[in-house]
Amino acid sequence: MAKKVVVSGLKPSGELHIGNYLGAIKQLVELQNKSDYKRFYFIADYHALTQNFNAKDKSKEIFNMVVDSLATGIDPKKSVFFVQSHISAHNNLAWIFDTITSTGELSRMTAFKEKVAEGHVPNAGLYAYPVLMAADVLIYNADFVPVGDDQRQHVELTRTIARTFNARFGKMFKEPKTLNTETSRIMSLSDPTHKMSKSISSGCLFLSDSPDTIKKKIMSAQTDSERTIGFDPKRRPAVSNLVSIYAAFANTSPQKVVKKFEGKGYADFKKDLATLLIGKLKPIQKKRAELLKDRKKVMKILESGAKTARPIAEKTLDEAKRKVGLI
Ligand code: TYM
Repeated sequence: MAKKVVVSGLKPSGELHIGNYLGAIKQLVELQNKSDYKRFYFIADYHALTQNFNAKDKSKEIFNMVVDSLATGIDPKKSVFFVQSHISAHNNLAWIFDTITSTGELSRMTAFKEKVAEGHVPNAGLYAYPVLMAADVLIYNADFVPVGDDQRQHVELTRTIARTFNARFGKMFKEPKTLNTETSRIMSLSDPTHKMSKSISSGCLFLSDSPDTIKKKIMSAQTDSERTIGFDPKRRPAVSNLVSIYAAFANTSPQKVVKKFEGKGYADFKKDLATLLIGKLKPIQKKRAELLKDRKKVMKILESGAKTARPIAEKTLDEAKRKVGLI
């Protein structure tokens, strides 16, 4: 039986935080144990250019994101791991998709509206961001796209693009499905009405945070006035978010976490959560420090990943070009 294809990307704009980890990366790593899946994981550097950035720092940021991904457990022996801009076929296919995507559809994308509200320049790349994403996914003929909840709408659009292309030029693309985790929407520690993101830095816990910083961020995380540990995301979003984080890192359920802390207060719970996070992030941080010293090894991994991905991507692009009549 043909292997199922999984495709996901990480955008190198700033560092990875536990939202990225629990919403996507943990799942990407776990999927590596499935022998009937083929995985394409990449660093979406072209996507990172759509938001404000400093050219001087960009290549370092990309390298750091590569290192972070490897440190969290993305294994180049089990997954094809590469940098998006190294495979130009993604963008070529994206252009074809641009021509079959309506601006009405793109105007509905909430991620675009949020980014503009955050102060990013509403450039054409930011607007067409989900079209490049569709190309990233469809170029490998993906079945599944493991992403956090904030990317669900983009995967929906990917399905629409696949459908539109097939209807107009003849059946070629599958319609991939989103793979979500139970922690597909980790909220900011300082404001549970917003998803965790580096744009609210006080509420964002980075994978590279020191034990002291982790303690500080967790101890000052927002709770509520009820004083008990509970899990009720609608009514008690702040505490429930912390319970979700605890459960995901401890590989247990939110209900079991609530039970464990029955009769205890926020201070005890937060102390335990900080200790858990420090312990879980320590091996990632150690691996990260090792990899940062071995640039050659990291570059070799990327070269080899691109070598595997490129012919697959180019084959799809050629087929799409044939279908639309370019060749
Ligand atoms: P990026 O780098 O912004 O996010 C990487 C992954 O982390 C998830 N995520 C979260 N999950 C839970 N809670 C949060 N607070 C949180 N914040 C971020 C995101 O949903 C994502 O899965 N556009 C993609 C990159 C990309 C891509 C693709 C993904 C480019 N091409 C093709 C899949 C397939 C992004 O948002 O990356």
